[in-house]
Amino acid sequence: MMNKFIFVIVCFISFPSIAQDHKIIPAPNHVEKREDNFKWTDYPIPIIADDTLFFEAEYLSELLKRDHGIVSEIVSMKNEGSRIQLLLDEDMNDAEAYALEITEKQIIITGGSRSGIFYGIQSLRQWMWNNYDDCNKAVSGVLIEDQPRYPFRALMLDPARHFLPVNDLKRYVDVMAQYKFNRLHLHLSDDQGWRIEIKKYPKLTEIGSDRSETDGDGKPHSGFYSQQDMKALVAYAAQRHVSIIPEIDIPGHSVAAIAAYPYLTCFEDQLEVRTTPNISKDLLCGGNDEVFRFLDDVIDELAQVFPGEEFHIGGDEAPLDHWEKCPKCQKRMKELKLSSPQHLMSYFFQRVNESLQKHKKKPLVWYELDVPYYPENSTMYAWRLGLSKEAIEKSRKQGYQLVCCPGEHAYFDYPQARGEETCNWMPVLPLEQVYKFEPTMELPAKETDHIIGVEATLWGEYIKDINRAFYMTWPRAMALSEAGWSEKKNRSWNEFKGKMDVHTSKLLHQGVNYRPPVELYDL
Ligand code: ACM
Ligand code: ZN
Repeated sequence: MMNKFIFVIVCFISFPSIAQDHKIIPAPNHVEKREDNFKWTDYPIPIIADDTLFFEAEYLSELLKRDHGIVSEIVSMKNEGSRIQLLLDEDMNDAEAYALEITEKQIIITGGSRSGIFYGIQSLRQWMWNNYDDCNKAVSGVLIEDQPRYPFRALMLDPARHFLPVNDLKRYVDVMAQYKFNRLHLHLSDDQGWRIEIKKYPKLTEIGSDRSETDGDGKPHSGFYSQQDMKALVAYAAQRHVSIIPEIDIPGHSVAAIAAYPYLTCFEDQLEVRTTPNISKDLLCGGNDEVFRFLDDVIDELAQVFPGEEFHIGGDEAPLDHWEKCPKCQKRMKELKLSSPQHLMSYFFQRVNESLQKHKKKPLVWYELDVPYYPENSTMYAWRLGLSKEAIEKSRKQGYQLVCCPGEHAYFDYPQARGEETCNWMPVLPLEQVYKFEPTMELPAKETDHIIGVEATLWGEYIKDINRAFYMTWPRAMALSEAGWSEKKNRSWNEFKGKMDVHTSKLLHQGVNYRPPVELYDL
């Protein structure tokens, strides 16, 4: 009895409370509750931050006002009365790492970079959602030390299938930043639409951004982003520590570009921008230098719009039937002694990579296991349902970095429950199944050290507007955020379920159209 008593005391002393009653998503590495409370009195509360952190300080000030009516002012000099401090500490072991300490006297957020500070602010906000006492104007003390498991944490939208106005993309960025996602991947071209202005090829948007109808609905659909629109989005997202990854999907999924410029395809067929889903056999020609010139020009222009080094070049679902018959493709294969059209695919990406390298960009690719090789500096995406382990193993052997977005856990166009299907072939992907996503697929650590992160894909065939996109994203992306950020030992489905009420109610207040996870409630 005595021993048990001592054991309980010792546990209490050596392991301060780490239960997840903080309700922060994604779950932080280390949370230690403190006894003191910080009192929000003496308005305006000073926020001390040096000039480089001005945006982060303003962002915090705005959140405090919006969530709790707390008035603050930003001051750049240290002073005795300081109540909230934002401090950079480049010695932290990860640029995105942060520490948040709330004591009786002050709140200090230390970050490995501006991103770390930003994530500390997100955690402070969420901590206050659960630990701020409105009557006493007090927040409980805590020490949180945190950093991400993976550097790459992305969501993907598909405005190629249904155009999403740029202001809606900004709203999407706002919400994803709350959950510490740091990349928004935009699928900007596909058979059903080309959505980004290219000044040298005006028909891409004059013709390629317009389709006569969608799946027989009789209604024309159109829309594209000017380069100026995208520059504005890039700047807006950068303030929220989200980089924009553009994708031009080639050599398949290119019917909209071919409709605009028929010389891009093997037989120069005059095609219409596609009005139905499914895969087209009309690829960009792999034997025509004009195609590589076109892609070089497109990349030249997009490199001025998207400053990040990651550039997605698609690569998925490209049936090789036309390449097998096309005289230009066959001639190129003979000249280069390429033994199969799959080898021509590898050559195709090498050529495109030369254009990317001129701008110090590296290719991201939907990994197809039958393509013999990709450019050395490529990052693969493991996406095909049922092939995740194989993709992890093969990409490692081939020396590529890997992003995991497997159909089993991360295809957010799939319905969240039976009865919500938009399309009968899709499997159901409930919240719990997303939560079970372990990027390594339980393979040993030494075999998975090339995994750089996770992404959810929100293919847009049935996502007609941002409200539908939000509905399909949230709360599943909360589950995905833990797969990307939280250490495995800190993840628990039961704990996560317990966080849903507060987070979904906050989305409601923010006007975000999420799907209530009704299957979790006893109705
Ligand atoms: C894909 O789902 N076609 C990458
Ligand atoms: Zn060809």
